[in-house]
Amino acid sequence: MAKRVVLLPGDGIGPDIVASAVRVLRQVFSDRPEALSFQYHQLGGAAIDETGQPFPEETRAAVLASDAVLLGAVGGPKWDQGPGHLRPEAGLLALRKALGVYANMRPVRAYEKLLDASPLRLDVAKGVDLLIIRELTGGIYFGERERGETASAGRFAKDTMYYTEMEIRRVVKKGFEAARDRKGHLTSVDKANVLDSSRLWREVVDDMKKDYSDVTVEHVLVDSCAMHLVTRPERFDVIVTENLFGDILSDEAAVLTGSIGVLPSASLGDGPGLYEPIHGSAPDIAGKGIANPLGTILSAAMMLRHSLEEPERADRIEEAVARVIDKGLRTADLARGRESVSTQAMTDAVIAALA
Ligand code: NAI
Ligand code: MG
Repeated sequence: MAKRVVLLPGDGIGPDIVASAVRVLRQVFSDRPEALSFQYHQLGGAAIDETGQPFPEETRAAVLASDAVLLGAVGGPKWDQGPGHLRPEAGLLALRKALGVYANMRPVRAYEKLLDASPLRLDVAKGVDLLIIRELTGGIYFGERERGETASAGRFAKDTMYYTEMEIRRVVKKGFEAARDRKGHLTSVDKANVLDSSRLWREVVDDMKKDYSDVTVEHVLVDSCAMHLVTRPERFDVIVTENLFGDILSDEAAVLTGSIGVLPSASLGDGPGLYEPIHGSAPDIAGKGIANPLGTILSAAMMLRHSLEEPERADRIEEAVARVIDKGLRTADLARGRESVSTQAMTDAVIAALA
């Protein structure tokens, strides 16, 4: 039976880059075109315009019945003045919630040819190939909160970092599994010298180690990890951490390579996974045909690996992208004064490298 992929192009450059990824997927399945079926649905600003809702009921039903979801990006100035629940970003949050995705995975890889785009010294950025896994549905962003006022100290505000063993276990499991498929090294990041929630996190990781004897595990404090990410990034393979730490570290890691246009992501739960580039809808270049499609194409590769049981085809897409970058082909965001190619030409090149 065909695997069902729901496509949510969204707004701005979203439709262009999702179209690119679909062309690449069709090429990598040219020997078995019946293996994938694609269904387009609406999310974000375009969905608000047409249905009044950023995450329409029809889209919800479709993603829940799918095997995986590939998203472009949502948002744009046109919808920025709307009320909170009718903003494109509200659609994205509702989508993630509906899918129950609790592990956000962001691989960061330094391509030799793009190293001049990195803010790091060449010898530091060289060889970076790491994966950050951020817990996405627990921790301080979702814990108990309170606002109040006291007579002596004025106003107060409280946020709570709360984790259950079950929440820790399921995301750390993704970390072990990913490490097993990569270089076999897992770094668990916490603040166990101060926080109780981190001590529990550490206990659960140590408990799970026995089942993954092929993976080496280390615990690193979050402040130290932040430092190592920009001094010795090549030492990392898979990093797994809680929500707040992961939010910060994944943005820090994203700048290592200097180009958000090439970075993919996956958000995984126990049902269909959600795959999207890390960048937004880039309204400043929408409609110009110059958006970098590689982040979305690499997200499609992650989808083949993590949701559709097609790891070899995922490898082929990643190798094709690496070859195209190696040849020196660049879209405008990577060009830095050099000659650049269109979204279409970049996509054609990936397809040619696959064929
Ligand atoms: P952005 O990521 O859309 O753009 C930042 C800068 O990077 C812009 O100069 C843009 O042209 C460039 N850029 C981004 N992706 C690119 C690509 N594939 N190729 C070439 N250049 C690229 O972030 P910004 O400007 O802060 O947000 C724009 C809109 O996107 C807002 O409405 C925001 O809310 C939304 N957004 C949506 C996200 C999502 O759907 N997951 C994530 C982040 C922002
Ligand atoms: Mg962030």
